[in-house]
Amino acid sequence: MYVAQPIAWTEAGVVMLDQRRLPAEEISYTYTDYRDVAKAIREMVIRGAPAIGVAAAMGVALAARHSPAKSVAELRAEMPAIYDLLAKTRPTAVDLFWALERMDRKFNELLSANADLDTIRREMVAEAKLVHLEKKATDEAIGRFGAAFMPKEGLVMTQCNAGALATAGIGTALGVIRVAVEQGKNLHVLVPETRPYLQGARLTAWELLKGGIPLTLITDNMVGHFLKTAQVKAIVTGADRIAANGDTANKIGTYQIAVLAKENNVPFYIAAPISTFDLAIPDGDSIPIEERSAEEVTHIQGVRIAPDVPAAHPAFDVTPARYIAGIITERGVAHAPYAEALRDLATTPRPALSTAH
Ligand code: MRU
Repeated sequence: MYVAQPIAWTEAGVVMLDQRRLPAEEISYTYTDYRDVAKAIREMVIRGAPAIGVAAAMGVALAARHSPAKSVAELRAEMPAIYDLLAKTRPTAVDLFWALERMDRKFNELLSANADLDTIRREMVAEAKLVHLEKKATDEAIGRFGAAFMPKEGLVMTQCNAGALATAGIGTALGVIRVAVEQGKNLHVLVPETRPYLQGARLTAWELLKGGIPLTLITDNMVGHFLKTAQVKAIVTGADRIAANGDTANKIGTYQIAVLAKENNVPFYIAAPISTFDLAIPDGDSIPIEERSAEEVTHIQGVRIAPDVPAAHPAFDVTPARYIAGIITERGVAHAPYAEALRDLATTPRPALSTAH
């Protein structure tokens, strides 16, 4: 089945598919400067929590590889500014900070081992490639655990885009649907368009079409109607950050879908890697919500659709844990009470994820 490739490390640099242009055009850019990678994350050339993490790891690797530093000490002095620029690109998705911490840990290990400059440059690139490979293996494990929660046949719903474009693997929520279909389940996906950035209409619809999975695109204000009348059997979405009590930030609109799901007795699942957990924060109230430009609300693809009035654009909302039937991860599925279940999953010894490809 077709799997989109939003990002790849190549000898020429980091190649990214411009998700702002999909589905109309498939255009890629090659970046050799970490500052351009930071801009690409901020401006949504690449988006989706795990894919942002992969991009950040590759940004750090590019910085190490192309730094003008002539000594390990000079490179070390440059690193804080590199992490800082990448960390300031998008505030909600915790995968970004997870990836930067991981790259920093690797850098410090290399320093402790007295690695020389060439070795550090090479090993930082290898670590970023490993982050990417592990994301792919993680998605596949999430898909296997999650497929069991999909019905044998019928309608399922998602939100935003939590597919290959968003993870650089097979996707989390769409990975669950994809594996279920590969297992022979006969699913039809209801795809809310996901205003204002239209990740559902532009990206999820494109991925499902390319993958040959039947779908129907709906506008966001049709969600309640279809949950009440259309026998939707399950909903699965991704996540940008999961607090210690299970409260989950995801694309704006997810909260209302979860509430309507409860009202209509439709199970609502989150599919996300453990790198999305933020167990240091007690609940969803502490999750920083990115505020994006009002122009993304007043305009669609550059065309003004509203008069020149104030508009709000919180890019994410928080779904309280009580609306979530299960959180599907690469190590298994957490159910309420989440505090204990998430802690157990996070501290389970890491199984040997197969990264062989
Ligand atoms: O603003 P975006 O497009 O980066 O938001 C993406 C989402 O909200 C996804 O659902 C989430 O990152 C999970 S992606 C597997």
